Amino acid sequence: MSVNHPILDLMNEHRLIEKVLQALDARLASSPPAPFPADFVEQALDFLLHFADGCHHYKEEEALFPALAERGVPVEGGPIGMMLHEHTVGRECLAGIRENLPSARTGNPDAIARLRKFATEYASLLRNHIWKEDNILFKMAGHALDSATLDRLTVTFNHERNPRVNSQLRARYLAFVSSL
Ligand SMILES: [Fe+2]
Ligand SMILES: [Fe+2]
Repeated sequence: MSVNHPILDLMNEHRLIEKVLQALDARLASSPPAPFPADFVEQALDFLLHFADGCHHYKEEEALFPALAERGVPVEGGPIGMMLHEHTVGRECLAGIRENLPSARTGNPDAIARLRKFATEYASLLRNHIWKEDNILFKMAGHALDSATLDRLTVTFNHERNPRVNSQLRARYLAFVSSL
């Protein structure tokens, strides 16, 4: 696959998402007795909401999955339906983290416990999800999509007018991952 290949682009984003999940796990595991790392959780949550979900899942839901469905990959009850369902469950976990963050920041032990539970569930779900995409769905995509479709995906992925794939935002999130 060439460097600009859209499937490779998605796989590279998986590596960035995994790095943030690993850092989030490590920081949450070290508290208590360390103070709850509220600022870090806020930054990680921002990345997961806007990069992992907003940008990455946008590319999959708005571009890749419809292109695969056009080529006959089943949606309802098939691999695309399963991926969409997992994106939805992931959003519920992120909402749980966001709801509990203000109280966790004040040191409320129940809120910290709830937030940690949502974060653990999210990390496990997403690692599994990424594995299935990398090893099953994206392999399928490599065979099913012709070069014209792949070019179309590349254009959509780099659409500057869409704020979810805006290059400035992207640079900010890449800098966050590099800082980990
Ligand atoms: Fe996905
Ligand atoms: Fe993905």
